[in-house]
Amino acid sequence: MNIAIFASGAGSNAQKIIEHFRENKTIHVGLIVCNKPGAGVLKIAADNAIPVLLIEKERFFRGDAYVPEMNLHEIGFIVLAGFLWKIPDALIRAFPNKIINIHPALLPKYGGKGMYGMHVHEAVIASGDTESGITIHYVNEKYDDGEAIFQATCTIEPIDTPELLAQKIHRLEHQYFPAIVEKCIEKL
Ligand code: GRF
Repeated sequence: MNIAIFASGAGSNAQKIIEHFRENKTIHVGLIVCNKPGAGVLKIAADNAIPVLLIEKERFFRGDAYVPEMNLHEIGFIVLAGFLWKIPDALIRAFPNKIINIHPALLPKYGGKGMYGMHVHEAVIASGDTESGITIHYVNEKYDDGEAIFQATCTIEPIDTPELLAQKIHRLEHQYFPAIVEKCIEKL
């Protein structure tokens, strides 16, 4: 089973997932898909000798959504780890219940369009909530809307800033995401 990781940022979650499956005999990270030339995740891919597919908007949204490349790399499961574009229907149809995303808050709160990265943590801190967390969920045609698979929480202290909260959330993501990816693949 080959996994494609879609990521457009620093790629720390991608790194953890790559490490998690490095010695795995049946599951491999076979492709990194990215829409941002220069993104940190591209160096992680190079360091780990994982092929990269740089995608562009027109073909992703109005073309074949790169399904032929997924087939070429024999991809059986897709993990979104800091990928901000909406997933087009063509890709969802090609991978039914085989695309998962990680969101840095406790959905259904703080989800939807525009709720990504530091925007999420700023909104959570501004709300006065005393906890936040992560949500791993299946991907459907709407932002942050598919069935939830897993949540983990952390407490927010009065001294926490959006930056400190972001660090806590990243720790939770790194702790749980790779194992949840593995569980979802085992269930297929
Ligand atoms: C993570 O916080 C993830 O929840 C969000 O984007 C961030 C990606 O971080 N969707 P990284 O690129 O994996 O370091």
